Amino acid sequence: MADIIAIDGPVASGKGSVSAGVAKVLGFHVLDSGALYRLAGTACVKEGVSLDDQAAVTKVAENMKPLFKDGRIYLNDEDVTDVIRTEEAGLNASQIAAYPTVRDALFQLQRRCAQEPGLVADGRDMGAVVFPDACLKIFLTASAESRAKRRYNQLKEKGIDSKIDDLVSDLKERDRRDTERAVAPLKPAEGARILDSSELTLQETIDKVLSWYREIRP
Ligand code: DC
Repeated sequence: MADIIAIDGPVASGKGSVSAGVAKVLGFHVLDSGALYRLAGTACVKEGVSLDDQAAVTKVAENMKPLFKDGRIYLNDEDVTDVIRTEEAGLNASQIAAYPTVRDALFQLQRRCAQEPGLVADGRDMGAVVFPDACLKIFLTASAESRAKRRYNQLKEKGIDSKIDDLVSDLKERDRRDTERAVAPLKPAEGARILDSSELTLQETIDKVLSWYREIRP
């Protein structure tokens, strides 16, 4: 069984950048599980499926065949890499992620990513549900304000204008929905180590994860 490092946490806690940094050093694969929920939501919007229709959304999630190639993500030959990163796509993903049948539909797709030499999986339920066998489970968090600031800078880099106050309230709304949902709610997995990155740089956060991994696999 390949080594799995599960990194869960709230929106904009830096999971994506930390996972990519850790995976690069270790030569591991990366699973951005949030992208799958974003893809499913985006596929529904494109197919005109109402996000309130659980059965129809589940069918879309079961049948979608995303293609990950050269750092880009395609849905039926259309490059949706940027579309799935918008705030709207994030909110849509959060809505359909509350459906247990959608989570089931995406389960095997995620499990198949556990390949040698190892995998860094980021999301909300990697340690608790999808990879309970992960050798290292981390709950990465940061204050809502520092997460909003990071999100603001990320969007600015992409040339997208936003307001910090709007981002803080969006983050809190998404946290609330992800935390309060009945199925696979956002919370630290059993045995997860809590890592608060509010006062840490990206590199310091990556180094902390690597040092924990090396404790386990000296
Ligand atoms: O990590 P992200 O912002 O790309 O995730 C988008 C949404 O998908 C998030 O609000 C909740 C949902 N999600 C989830 O429920 N389980 C996961 N493993 C990953 C994401």
